[in-house]
Amino acid sequence: MKQKILINYQKKNRLDLNSIENDLIESAVCNISNAYAPYSGFEVGSAVLLENRSIVSANNQENVSFPSGLCAERVAIFYAGSQFPDTSIISLAVSARSKKFNINNIISPCGSCRQVIAEYQIKQKRKIKILLHQSDDTVLIFESIEDLLPLMFQSPNLKIY
Ligand code: THU
Repeated sequence: MKQKILINYQKKNRLDLNSIENDLIESAVCNISNAYAPYSGFEVGSAVLLENRSIVSANNQENVSFPSGLCAERVAIFYAGSQFPDTSIISLAVSARSKKFNINNIISPCGSCRQVIAEYQIKQKRKIKILLHQSDDTVLIFESIEDLLPLMFQSPNLKIY
């Protein structure tokens, strides 16, 4: 039998977001300029808002051995996880710019980043809101990772304790 999966998201202008979410996007956008992307020229900024209201921001870090580089989202999440292991992530913002072309489409996290967001959401037992910012200030808002990664792989049985 044919089945369908429905995902939900909102589309807003950045001006219609609350000030904290605006700050989060601002932080992601500002961090684009620190990206290390000499191979792709595709520079991504990411920022995570923690429950203590602090913001951790990051960007993509590339490597001549391509798979050794890391996306902005994972740099931000892993840094937050390493420095504030017991502080929940409330939301994550992403914005990008290319040195080679105008980005006219929405930039959405890669599969590995989605899996990592899922891991932290499950770890903290609290939804992570995802804000995808476009250069025209449109923002796509996903209330949790389920809407970006339906049927995600998860197995509590893999945990040792
Ligand atoms: N990249 C990110 O940092 N985040 C994304 O959501 C998509 C892709 C990076 C990885 C690589 O450095 C460059 O963008 C091109 O794929």
